[in-house]
Amino acid sequence: MGNRQIVKVLTLDDFDLKGKTVFLRVDMNCPIDPNTLEISGTRRIEEAIETLDSLKEAKVVIGSHQGRVGNNEYIGMDKHAKVLEKLIGRKIKYVEDTIGEAAQNAIKNLQEGDILLLDNLRLCAEENYEFTPENAAKTIMVTRLSKLFDLCVLDSFPSAHRSHPSIVGFAQVLPACAGRIVEREVRNLDEIMTVAKAPHVIVLGGSKIPDRLEAIKLLIQNGRADHVLLTGLIGNVFMRAQARIKSPMGIKREEEVVAKAHSLIGEYPDVFATPVDIAIDKDGERVEMDVREMGKGDKIYDLGPKTVEYYSKLIAGAGTVFISGPAGYFEKENFSYGTNALLNAVANSMATTIVSGGHLTTALRQQGLVDKINHISTAGGALVLYLTGTKLPMIKALEDAAIRYKSK
Ligand code: 3PG
Repeated sequence: MGNRQIVKVLTLDDFDLKGKTVFLRVDMNCPIDPNTLEISGTRRIEEAIETLDSLKEAKVVIGSHQGRVGNNEYIGMDKHAKVLEKLIGRKIKYVEDTIGEAAQNAIKNLQEGDILLLDNLRLCAEENYEFTPENAAKTIMVTRLSKLFDLCVLDSFPSAHRSHPSIVGFAQVLPACAGRIVEREVRNLDEIMTVAKAPHVIVLGGSKIPDRLEAIKLLIQNGRADHVLLTGLIGNVFMRAQARIKSPMGIKREEEVVAKAHSLIGEYPDVFATPVDIAIDKDGERVEMDVREMGKGDKIYDLGPKTVEYYSKLIAGAGTVFISGPAGYFEKENFSYGTNALLNAVANSMATTIVSGGHLTTALRQQGLVDKINHISTAGGALVLYLTGTKLPMIKALEDAAIRYKSK
């Protein structure tokens, strides 16, 4: 992991924050229980507290997205407001609006020390599209709301790879700085990347397949992935590409992603490792089998022990390990084995270690392994992309804002 991303951004320490109205973009995109629609992991809400503590004398307007339009996790932010209020022990005002009159009035009425949480920013259609920074600055969201703010604080590292209006637009027209999470992530990752040694082992699970495929190629091309050990849904996609899973799995854009995985395997035949055995759910019971023994309709919920042994050996020989995304349906006790075993292998290796994503962060905590890891981040896709050496849109927006601010 060679080249450093030298980052020159402003931080909260560069501004007099007293009495200022601040737009704070955080990432409170939390796992949501599909049955109850309750928040099932609050880690990303907890993370907002450090920056909020630094903004105690300001009037703070928090914006975040939650889920994607049309998926199970796409809900309003009212529950987040309650969780944050409990965790921080301060009143959190909440408005069921993003850019309309209700939101604008709520912002205008803020007093010093107040915190207001806006509703899910993706309720505003614009926030679901990628823009150039210049065009993001012209969106209705940014033109309407920026008039009410003195400063933009960007702290949503997990969504730093999105060029949505709230992430790159406000920073074009307002003074902008990094919040505490972004400041720390970038500093730590930058330090780690300068000392990181080969072989680089990437353990990749998770479900956002198109994002993952794009990042894998860049990681390999940039010398950051000598071995890619695949788990979770992305592992299944590669097993279909190898024709080891025969029937369609019913995932979005399946043929397209399988074709991409197929061409990656062809291009880099020695890099990828896929599971040899797995566990499926049979009437609530865990049943382990070789991948070749799977029947039509069997759903893979976890890795089997042979795969864990095989992957653990590669992890033990690594100079740097990056693990992102659970290895299976780890929320179900019966199927948490693979995720927990791989995390243990990572924690006990001699390598420099990075653990990424909300699910793995939670699993690490549950197992008391936090102190054995060099860097832990709730970011998933953004962190994978950062490690490829790509300049993330949010970081670029912050750097450009710093240049503009200093040249004034
Ligand atoms: C994440 O959890 O990866 C971020 O919140 C970004 O979410 P998105 O992939 O829906 O943009």
